[in-house]
Amino acid sequence: MKHLLKLLDLSTEEIVDLLNLADQLKYEQKHGIEHHHLKGMTLGMIFQKSSTRTRVSFETGMYQLGGQALFLSLRDLQIGRGEPVQDTARVLSRYLNGIMIRTFAQKEVEDLAEYGSIPIINGLTDFCHPCQVLADLQTIREYKNKLDGLKFCYIGDGNNMANSLTVGALKCGMSVSLACPEGYHPDNQVLEFAKSYDDKFQLTADPKTAAADADVLYTDVWASMGQEGEFEKRKKVFEGIYQINDEIMSAAKSGAMVLHCLPAHREEEITAKVFEAHANEIFDEAENRLHAQKAVMVRLMAPGK
Ligand code: CP
Ligand code: NVA
Repeated sequence: MKHLLKLLDLSTEEIVDLLNLADQLKYEQKHGIEHHHLKGMTLGMIFQKSSTRTRVSFETGMYQLGGQALFLSLRDLQIGRGEPVQDTARVLSRYLNGIMIRTFAQKEVEDLAEYGSIPIINGLTDFCHPCQVLADLQTIREYKNKLDGLKFCYIGDGNNMANSLTVGALKCGMSVSLACPEGYHPDNQVLEFAKSYDDKFQLTADPKTAAADADVLYTDVWASMGQEGEFEKRKKVFEGIYQINDEIMSAAKSGAMVLHCLPAHREEEITAKVFEAHANEIFDEAENRLHAQKAVMVRLMAPGK
């Protein structure tokens, strides 16, 4: 594994290896066992969108691994004034040991990887959010002691989260049921990938059908970053239907867990009641961003550790 650009690029073995390492790093962190695997290294963090979890967990994770992270806003970098990404990639490769980037176009992330000579980590694009899904899989495995054979259900917009969750869950042996409205389906590349899983993948417009007997329920905002201007239009499509609420919970297996990548909009994609009833799972999930991303950084920046 040279980069983490999207989960489609990873084998099941690579994903499981990252989850195992994430568990180990979590254990070590909780027991005060130092793991300075990235001593003296630097990670550049380029952000073109807002972030709480990604920024803080990468910066903290890098520190815990003995290295340092640099926050680089695209507004301040010369990229913001038109310096080509090809040149930026080659320059930053001379200073840094890795780059984490959050931006709009997946191509920008792929270009950085193509022109630079250091590992690139996708910290969210419009297409996918692989770091979040590694943390999600780690959390599901913690609660359910396995991934293989579980039923995973996602309700909402067929966005970056739906794309990465579908790929990650299928690769880890889960069956996946998505409930997305017409016109808001996941990316074609993901649907094409999912096709090969036959009846382990289902896409419907009906949340109750998708939630039937699910072990894990997941949702995300109706309008993602960059789509704020479409919110009213989207609200008309999603409101009252694409929400995790008591009715959806009763369709799922008893003891089903509920996850959300956060930030959450209560009473839109999830009711406050369901959110609070599953707050432990959701905030364990947020915590696991730290551990999962530390695993990614170690594998990419210090292979062999
Ligand atoms: N879930 C997630 O990526 O959160 P941030 O946008 O706060 O980084
Ligand atoms: N779909 C959301 C995820 C945020 C972590 C967005 O892209 O804004």
